[in-house]
Amino acid sequence: MSSENTKLPLCLLLVAAAAGCAGEPPSQPEGWDRAVALRSALDLDARADVVEVDLTARVEELEIVPGLRTPAWTYDGGIPGPMIRARVGDRVIVNFRNELPAPTTIHWHGIRLSAQMDGAPGHSQPETASGGSFTYDFVVPDAGLYWYHPHVDSAAQAGNGLYGALLVEDPAEPAALGDELVLVLSDMGVEDDGSLVSPNTGGNFGTLFGREGDLLLVNGRVNPVIEARAGLRQRWRLVNAARSRYYQLAIEGHRFTRIGGDGGLLEYPVETDRIVLTPGERADVLIEPRGAPGATLPVRWVPYDRGYGATFGRPEVEAFRLRLADEPAAEDEPLPAVARAIEPLDTGAARRVDLQLTQQDGPGELVLGINGVPSWEAEPLVAAVGETAVWTVENTMVFDHPFHLHGFFFQVLGADGRPARPLEWKDTVNVPVDGAASFVVRYDNRPGMWMFHCHILDHADAGMMGMLHVVR
Ligand code: C2O
Ligand code: CU
Ligand code: CU
Repeated sequence: MSSENTKLPLCLLLVAAAAGCAGEPPSQPEGWDRAVALRSALDLDARADVVEVDLTARVEELEIVPGLRTPAWTYDGGIPGPMIRARVGDRVIVNFRNELPAPTTIHWHGIRLSAQMDGAPGHSQPETASGGSFTYDFVVPDAGLYWYHPHVDSAAQAGNGLYGALLVEDPAEPAALGDELVLVLSDMGVEDDGSLVSPNTGGNFGTLFGREGDLLLVNGRVNPVIEARAGLRQRWRLVNAARSRYYQLAIEGHRFTRIGGDGGLLEYPVETDRIVLTPGERADVLIEPRGAPGATLPVRWVPYDRGYGATFGRPEVEAFRLRLADEPAAEDEPLPAVARAIEPLDTGAARRVDLQLTQQDGPGELVLGINGVPSWEAEPLVAAVGETAVWTVENTMVFDHPFHLHGFFFQVLGADGRPARPLEWKDTVNVPVDGAASFVVRYDNRPGMWMFHCHILDHADAGMMGMLHVVR
């Protein structure tokens, strides 16, 4: 992302003696985002409202651990894949080629597109065979950070490196909230010889716990360093693309201002000590680093208790770090108002959908399900275009499950049964151990077959997945 600073020297209007008012507005240090900058996909279409990109999935040897060569699964040769940037209402065309040794599809997580473009194998499209291609062509109606990943053998394919960011910007949103970074969080398991840890490592227990690679990756790098100027806000747009790992991030002595989530800005910002992202979730946060010139601020991954043994004996890990420039702290402009009018959905006449997340008993391979039925035996739920529904998803297992619905945003309900404040549009919600999550959703006019599943991809592949058939 560009580091050019378009801020006005508003500080000139403030206390003349304040630091950094020598004329030039204060800016991040030279090359501040170099360690994490994402490649952007090249837009091949000259039209202003069309973004056309070529995207090829292929195995590429990458040096993820210094000195080791890892045959990673990549989009266009890197991890993450190139960031696709569009503006609200743009048409996005992706000329996809599969050069992997396996079939795949691409799912555009969070985008309200037509079901034919959703990448659901057998429903949207056939699997794209090795050597095959597929053209995705859809409109992006909502601003926010989205992401793309395979929907065939997803745990293994995403775990091997297949994911990328899709950023949809709205020119009408307030600019200059802070210097912006898109950070794709993930993890990877790499053996001592550089090869990828087997996608099935740990057998049934690996599946049950959800496989976490030992290496934490931030835009594909291990513990990168972001340069920062103390006192200047940065805006981090985060997505958790890990196959199973929850990300809980903290910075000693600092708070985050969360301004957005899965589906764009919140109704109003909230302050928080920690950012928690289940697999699939996004967060849009502001952070104002403070400290002595030259200081280092570790951004720590803190174990999140997502159930049985998830925190036991597990240390915190430095995911990345901020290094403050050798300059005095700058005085940032006041934060412009960040707010969004969101109408709460009416739950009054809503249809009820009650689901249980379940584990099947029996010998052999671990099988998970929804309402006691694994995905391969499940009958689709049926709903009508225009209908509003309240889903209650109950957890019967000793692990949390991040529940994700394709194609539609929902509003999570609070304990009082009403959409929780600040209102926000989500597509993935955590269902805690021994608990439940409820949300209200309205099916807008996009009929078709839509998937829902646990976004611990090991769980989804083990059967915790179902289909919603929205009919006209
Ligand atoms: Cu990221 Cu089926 O989902
Ligand atoms: Cu999705
Ligand atoms: Cu799960």
